[in-house]
Amino acid sequence: KNDLFVLGIETSCDETAASIVKNGTEIISNVVASQIESHKRFGGVVPELASRHHVEQMTIVIEEALKQANVSFKDIDAIAVTEGPGLVGALLVGVNAAKALAFSHKIPIVPVHHIAGHIYANRLITELTFPLISLVVSGGHTELVYMEKHGSFKVIGETLDDAAGEAYDKVARTLQLPYPGGPHIDRLAQEGNPNIDLPRAWLEEGSYDFSFSGLKSAVINTLHNAEQRGETVSPEDLAASFQASVVEVLTEKTVRAAKEYNVRQVLLAGGVAANKGLRHSLTAAFEKEPEIELVIPPLFLCTDNAAMIAAAGSILFEMGKRGTMEMNAHPGLDI
Ligand code: KG4
Ligand code: ZN
Repeated sequence: KNDLFVLGIETSCDETAASIVKNGTEIISNVVASQIESHKRFGGVVPELASRHHVEQMTIVIEEALKQANVSFKDIDAIAVTEGPGLVGALLVGVNAAKALAFSHKIPIVPVHHIAGHIYANRLITELTFPLISLVVSGGHTELVYMEKHGSFKVIGETLDDAAGEAYDKVARTLQLPYPGGPHIDRLAQEGNPNIDLPRAWLEEGSYDFSFSGLKSAVINTLHNAEQRGETVSPEDLAASFQASVVEVLTEKTVRAAKEYNVRQVLLAGGVAANKGLRHSLTAAFEKEPEIELVIPPLFLCTDNAAMIAAAGSILFEMGKRGTMEMNAHPGLDI
């Protein structure tokens, strides 16, 4: 048998996910149990609650992934699991499930970095062409990652404070929108005008780092100041102005990095890749750079899933990476 079947497991935050991927590129099954409904009433992910949900869902989700793929453990060549970064109690559930299954079925484990997973989601839709840059924007991360070849990740820029998705969620909360707020702000932004003056955090000249906390504070101040003057601010215009600032900085820095590093491909990754403003802006910007291919995955591959972990795990498996029975969760793991 020449095909490679990898079972992916992902539990770093608030989705319990399992997937079977063939040859690192083909999704055979992809099961995601989301906990959003449970965390919504608390306005954010409650770590303790997340762990408990993972424990309840993990085996059900893995069984469902095998069933949908119509395979059993004897067909699985490797188990790829997210070892970090993320919530430690959440990660431990996936890591322990992987270890137990690997031990009882004698299957090798491949530990996967969550961000590598987000990036490799792109390999499920197209071939990766190196060198490339990936803009990873999620609730926990905002990073520009340079890749010279498979399995090689160099972070050339990252957020100094809030992640892009985190800023979206915090701004949404001040506008009393439900969690997660990103999609709500995105929707409001389509209906508003970006006519409120908000800062752009370019940081030092040439820097590929990001900062969103100043912008978030500016949004909150705009609301408070208007309130004190007895005025109202249009939530649509505020959302549009906030989004314009985030999208402009993300787009500008990504284009500049892509040119400086002479890349052939730019990959978008992470939950904020669902943002309509960002998708439009990057598409427009790279239309002017015809020698660089922009890849934007479908939404179900942008948010957390296990197919992306299996995709990254497949490459790492082929490169010889293996976990052990002593492997642990690493909440603050560097890529
Ligand atoms: O990748 P993801 O599912 O989980 C993490 O690894 O963090 O990303 C979730 C984040 C949330 O902050 C959510 O508000 C944001 O992605 N998000 C969006 C949109 N859809 C999801 N942010 C802006 N616009 C959207 N359309
Ligand atoms: Zn993620």
